[in-house]
Amino acid sequence: MRRRPSEFRRPVRRRLFSNLLWWPLCAVAVLLFIYILSKGSQIESRPALSRRSYRHERIMEGLNVTEEMLNPNSVARQLSDQVSLAKAFVVIAKESNNLQFAWELSAQIRNSQILLSNAAIRRAPLTVGESEASIRDMAILLYQAQQFHYDSATMIMRLKAKIQGLEEQMSSVNEKSSKYGQIAAEEVPKSLYCLGVRLTTEWFRDSSLQRKFKERKQMDMKLKDNNLYHFCVFSDNILATSVVVNSTALSSRSPEKVVFHLVTDEINYSAMKAWFSMNSFCGVTVEVQKFEDFTWLNASYVPVLKQLQDSETQNYYFSGSNVDARTPIKFRNPKYLSMLNHLRFYIPEVFPELKKVVFLDDDIVVQKDLSGLFSLDLNGNVNGAVETCMETFHRYHKYLNYSHPLIRAHFDPDACGWAFGMNVFDLVEWRKRNVTGIYHYWQEKNVDRTLWKLGTLPPGLLTFYGLTQPLDPSWHVLGLGYTNVDHQLIEKGAVLHFNGNSKPWLKIGIEKYKPLWEKYVDYSHPLLQSCNFH
Ligand SMILES: *[C@@H]1O[C@H](CO)[C@@H](O)[C@H](O)[C@H]1NC(C)=O
Ligand SMILES: *[C@@H]1O[C@H](CO)[C@@H](O)[C@H](O)[C@H]1NC(C)=O
Ligand SMILES: *[C@@H]1O[C@H](CO)[C@@H](O)[C@H](O)[C@H]1NC(C)=O
Ligand SMILES: *[C@@H]1O[C@H](CO)[C@@H](O)[C@H](O)[C@H]1NC(C)=O
Ligand SMILES: *[C@@H]1O[C@H](CO)[C@@H](O)[C@H](O)[C@H]1NC(C)=O
Ligand SMILES: *[C@@H]1O[C@H](CO)[C@@H](O)[C@H](O)[C@H]1NC(C)=O
Repeated sequence: MRRRPSEFRRPVRRRLFSNLLWWPLCAVAVLLFIYILSKGSQIESRPALSRRSYRHERIMEGLNVTEEMLNPNSVARQLSDQVSLAKAFVVIAKESNNLQFAWELSAQIRNSQILLSNAAIRRAPLTVGESEASIRDMAILLYQAQQFHYDSATMIMRLKAKIQGLEEQMSSVNEKSSKYGQIAAEEVPKSLYCLGVRLTTEWFRDSSLQRKFKERKQMDMKLKDNNLYHFCVFSDNILATSVVVNSTALSSRSPEKVVFHLVTDEINYSAMKAWFSMNSFCGVTVEVQKFEDFTWLNASYVPVLKQLQDSETQNYYFSGSNVDARTPIKFRNPKYLSMLNHLRFYIPEVFPELKKVVFLDDDIVVQKDLSGLFSLDLNGNVNGAVETCMETFHRYHKYLNYSHPLIRAHFDPDACGWAFGMNVFDLVEWRKRNVTGIYHYWQEKNVDRTLWKLGTLPPGLLTFYGLTQPLDPSWHVLGLGYTNVDHQLIEKGAVLHFNGNSKPWLKIGIEKYKPLWEKYVDYSHPLLQSCNFH
């Protein structure tokens, strides 16, 4: 279950090229984050069912700065991640003699830094408006940077050299010397980034990988065969996705009948293909797509994209900046990045040939054979999900604005919430009942954001209201990313979900739960070794 910043993916990811600037940034970014929390979670991250109440508790307990900064989904982190990435691009732009662009990037880095340091000096958090503008402007530049460089194999070679430099830096970091020593210890996201770059390099260097992948593509028949077990994962995290696929394969009684449909973004596409061509998983079939290839995913069909085009929204995001009119709007807006997160509402469009699909989040581990999910009777419902209202708070009134007449008229405030993360979707019923239409209806009603703020769970609760079949809770055990979970539940669970901040691939992952995830990672893999995973 995930809820991502501004309901969309973090625009930029971590490229930590300078540790020196990181610490002050962190401190300031935390202030920003605290402020945003105090604004009533206008900017949500992952749609963890449990997140809301969890957050409130946490605010009362006092914020754990280390934890917040390590949270890959926080807005604070977005801002500082952008700066780190931008710095990497400055180096590359200079190397490529694109001095004008390097200058623009540097200017924007300065803007972000000034913003951050002003907030630190006045010891008051930034306003949402302030950070929004900066994040947006930077996202536009970063998008351009990727346009210039990312697909080029030579550029990736250069990046690789940078990575070596980065690794040297990493080993020389004196963790203890820093006030936020634990943040310094956060090597995993750097390693993830390194893995992505290495894999991309491999993909372009090694044509046999590409050939292998093409050969596997010949298994087209399997991709459409409705007698097989189809799973989908929408993610940009290669290692996490690998664990999902590996654990499903190893737990499956007939892995040759398992088909994984992965969808990622442009940036991770080559790396994802490379990883799944160089490793095999007990014979499961793996397909990799990128959402940029879906032509139906456009503003005339998808209300969230359309809403971004209204003048009001455009002004909100683009006021005062001179954007390149040739860049399609869905890529100009920082929010487009969570399109991966949003794809869960378009599963029948993504897989027009399929009748039943199990949707898995990338922060899960599979421990049991899941074929039983495909023969469950959903009683004509569209979504099979585990309910969450036995935990307090997780009822509809917790997620929706019951002051709004439309919400009051249509939804029982005490209806039980359920979880995204392991869902069985009956795509035949979905199409028959026009569930995408229902989703579009509510998304359009929410143009002013009065029904719900951000995230994918609230629109999910509206869309699948009365269309959700409760599943036995042992199918999907939640909370391993933030709380203590009964060990019997864990033992019995078919799918364990690390929803919450403490993802198992982060240093702050909950130690006692990490082994459940780590056992599906091959730490002896040469690429993982060379990227410092341990
Ligand atoms: C996927 O791409 C994002 C951003 O470009 C990056 O932060 C992330 O580390 C990549 N994932 C992997 C596993 O390489
Ligand atoms: C946008 O999506 C619709 C519906 O899926 C499709 O019919 C149309 O051709 C798409 N437009 C473009 C420009 O791709
Ligand atoms: C599905 O719903 C949408 C929006 O509510 C509507 O425009 C469309 O005609 C419906 N499609 C079908 C096949 O009923
Ligand atoms: C809830 O809905 C009411 C009625 O439309 C609206 O006035 C109010 O601003 C909404 N609350 C939030 C937090 O959006
Ligand atoms: C903050 O979180 C980290 C990582 O989870 C933990 O090790 C540390 O003890 C926490 N600090 C406080 C003050 O709670
Ligand atoms: C999958 O998990 C198994 C055992 O848990 C491990 O030995 C294997 O190396 C993993 N495969 C990959 C490709 O990570």
